[in-house]
Amino acid sequence: MARILTLTLNPALDLTLRLDQLQPGAVNRCRDFASHAAGKGLNVAQVLADLGHTLSVSGFLGRANAAPFETLMHKRGFRDLFVRVPGETRSNIKLAEADGRITDLNGPGPQIEESHLQQLLETLDPLLAGHDAVVVAGSLPRGVSPEWFASLLKRIKAAGVPLAVDSSGAALSAALGTTPWLIKPNEEELAEACGADLQAAVTHLRGQGIEHILLSRGAEGVDWHGPNIALRALPPRVEVASTVGAGDSLLAASLHGLLEGWPAERTLRLATAVAAQAVTQIGFGIHDIDQLARLQAGVQLQPLQE
Ligand SMILES: Nc1ncnc2c1ncn2[C@@H]1O[C@H](COP(=O)(O)OP(=O)(O)OP(=O)(O)O)[C@@H](O)[C@H]1O
Ligand SMILES: [Mg+2]
Repeated sequence: MARILTLTLNPALDLTLRLDQLQPGAVNRCRDFASHAAGKGLNVAQVLADLGHTLSVSGFLGRANAAPFETLMHKRGFRDLFVRVPGETRSNIKLAEADGRITDLNGPGPQIEESHLQQLLETLDPLLAGHDAVVVAGSLPRGVSPEWFASLLKRIKAAGVPLAVDSSGAALSAALGTTPWLIKPNEEELAEACGADLQAAVTHLRGQGIEHILLSRGAEGVDWHGPNIALRALPPRVEVASTVGAGDSLLAASLHGLLEGWPAERTLRLATAVAAQAVTQIGFGIHDIDQLARLQAGVQLQPLQE
């Protein structure tokens, strides 16, 4: 099994409130409330841990509400490399109504200062080479520029560790310029960064040296473009409980197969099934092995025309 570092520069406390029907401007009583330490890199780390790997996790964490993150890291046995910053990690509030409508209220994160950026580099630099892969996932907090982000990715690459990136907007554009080993954009994210012709974008990025492109297509599945790999996976039809963590699950399980040296078909079948399993849960993660086996059997793989 591998030693993997995930970076979540902008984690979030996910607060989910269930209520019958939202009445804006009035007092609303909620049926129940759940709070989870979250963020894309932390989600990826949890699925990788479910698959048997050893995890280090890092990024920036607000000191004022670090407890739930520390509990999660302790419970999962993650090595905590988060740089603590003043203030609170942002809260992302999800208002879930009985008819399935979800309203997201995403709070602002803490302000990251120059000294924190420096501290992150100093923490990571001596440890990077001790990992088999680094995953950098999610958005950038206030105070972290796309240019600094690109310089961080270049340092990771310079340490000779395979780098997987899942981000969007200006952060993804900056990341593409550093030629990561693997990227996992969804169609919208790739189009925003590279234009509407996704086939041309994939060809260009592969030509530039990005080895693996996992282009996720929501309920339609995923296209994997890699060295001698051009595969499409269609997931089995599942009942959607929540799509939270689907992309993170896909990335984690793909990385698992790649690090284990599996054939592409086996890797993509597992990754598509783990992502579909995430969709069937309010949370995500591999808790039901029998369900996972059924989902894997239901994944259809087909060659992609390139
Ligand atoms: N309704 C669904 N049924 C089955 N599988 C799904 C469904 N929605 C998503 N998936 C699986 O999850 C993968 C990732 O989903 P998607 O393309 O929506 O990623 P994303 O937009 O990055 O999501 P995230 O919000 O997690 O960042 C898909 O490639 C697919 O395999
Ligand atoms: Mg995503």
